[in-house]
Amino acid sequence: MRVLVTGGAGYIGSVVAAQLVDVGHEVTVLDDLSTGHEDAVPEGARFVRGDIREPGAALDGVEAVLHFAARSLVGESVEQPGRYWAHNLGGTLALLDAMRAKDVRRIVFSSTAATYGEPERSPIVEDAPTRPTNPYGASKLAVDTALTAFAGMYGLGAVSLRYFNVAGAYGRFRERHAVETHLIPNVLKVALGERPSVSVFGTDYPTPDGTCVRDYIHVADLARAHLLALEACAPGSHQIFNLGNGTGFSVKEVIEVCREVTGHEIPAIVGDRRPGDPAVLVASSDKIQRELGWKPEHTAMRGIVGDAWAALSGK
Ligand code: UFG
Repeated sequence: MRVLVTGGAGYIGSVVAAQLVDVGHEVTVLDDLSTGHEDAVPEGARFVRGDIREPGAALDGVEAVLHFAARSLVGESVEQPGRYWAHNLGGTLALLDAMRAKDVRRIVFSSTAATYGEPERSPIVEDAPTRPTNPYGASKLAVDTALTAFAGMYGLGAVSLRYFNVAGAYGRFRERHAVETHLIPNVLKVALGERPSVSVFGTDYPTPDGTCVRDYIHVADLARAHLLALEACAPGSHQIFNLGNGTGFSVKEVIEVCREVTGHEIPAIVGDRRPGDPAVLVASSDKIQRELGWKPEHTAMRGIVGDAWAALSGK
């Protein structure tokens, strides 16, 4: 299939683009390189540097779009909400218009667990209430709402995948953010000698060890779900699936695994809670397992951290 991957020079987009190339799809990556890296575009994919608002010829002959390009920092979204509405919602609406104009009828969209906000029940299922607690989650939820409308009105076939905490690496493709806020890369930077210590944001949560619990999914498993979602796009329908491992790990547990994997003591300093962090976020991925036959293969935290460490350190 001829596919367009927006944000394919970023962490998750580049892994999905690599897997699409591997199974024989004809891949064009559209990325403005605001946060991505041109050298992350996989071999075998065509690269177009540009904005999702004006995809132009990048959409010619395309049968499906996998849409990753977005702003994705929760904290930044609280400080600069306009940026999130403009990029994530405005940008996607412009992309959807361009797709209609060129008769592109399938889209797989990167949604997020942040659309749910503070959960009432764990693990989180897809029909749980959506009450995002920050503009990032709200902007992604707005796109999900628009996709439902576009599917009903124009016959678009759409699938939204709601990611929980994506981690690990796929060969050389790894997380490389200019401003790193995520736990695992921050911890590994200590082992690499790039940071003196890691901060633990709060130890007074109502969890077994007092630190936040998250559901870490290996980027290779996550990417594989996109290939299934692409096949599952059906005209006139918008399907939503959660993607996680179904198991929670606390911040302290993650740091401990990083110590085991790297052999570094990794000093950890207890700090205040980070505003907006829910205590526990764990996905139910039953729906995608049942309906699309997806199954995570890399569920052990040791393997997830091991792959991230190998890509980061070259060891
Ligand atoms: N944490 C630390 N120290 C750090 C970094 C993080 O203690 O240096 C803690 C956080 O407080 C949180 C946990 O580690 O409890 C995980 O934090 P991340 O920043 O790695 O991930 P989040 O759970 O905040 O965010 C992820 C995605 C978001 C998505 C969200 C869904 O990165 O895009 O899950 O709720 F919106």
